[in-house]
Amino acid sequence: MQSKNHWERVYSTKAVDAVSWFQEHAETSLRLIQVTAVPLNAAIMDVGGGASTLVDDLLARGYVNVTILDLSAVALRAAQGRLGSRARLVTWVEADITKVELPLRHYDVWHDRAVFHFLTDPQDRHAYVNAVLRAVKPGGHVIVATFAEDGPTQCSGLPVVRYSAEELHSEFGAPFTLVQHDKESHHTPFGTIQEFTYCYCRTSVTT
Ligand SMILES: C[S@@+](CC[C@H](N)C(=O)[O-])C[C@H]1O[C@@H](n2cnc3c(N)ncnc32)[C@H](O)[C@@H]1O
Repeated sequence: MQSKNHWERVYSTKAVDAVSWFQEHAETSLRLIQVTAVPLNAAIMDVGGGASTLVDDLLARGYVNVTILDLSAVALRAAQGRLGSRARLVTWVEADITKVELPLRHYDVWHDRAVFHFLTDPQDRHAYVNAVLRAVKPGGHVIVATFAEDGPTQCSGLPVVRYSAEELHSEFGAPFTLVQHDKESHHTPFGTIQEFTYCYCRTSVTT
């Protein structure tokens, strides 16, 4: 609840393009989603999508089965307002990813930029990884981006865990095969640079 209150307050008091994580286009995420080569009707989950523009660009590229999950109703409303009538093409879920029950073996692609790194409690990380294992189809694609080992120690005023690609992959463990990893220097709206680690993994075909 504390965390939900934090995010509702952030999105109620700041413009969506004035938060440190804002991207006009989520270029690295879009590139990695295209690398998966899933069809346009693939089920794509953006965890902690908030008011990200990723959904706009996915719809523009023709993806028709996108879900955005976030703790913050205010963030989801901002994204819906921006999309206008296209918002009805998207499934919106207001929930905590460490607690939600998602459909079993449903998603082809799981995407998370800057959510997993807030999970400083190992139990929450365990719940998150279990959620991925349950909700992603066997052989599915998992793209997770966190602050890198040389990134900031806080995000939105909250402590984070920073990861190298190896460390991030090892949080997910053996059922996840690391396909590709990337580093991104994110330019914030305030002119600072934040280093991100992106891991793209596949879940095993037999689970
Ligand atoms: C730093 S922002 C990143 C937003 C978006 N992914 C992007 O890259 O623009 C983190 C987002 O995760 C959401 N969030 C934080 N903890 C969460 C949780 N436990 N479950 C679901 N969403 C969460 C916040 O509301 C916020 O929208």
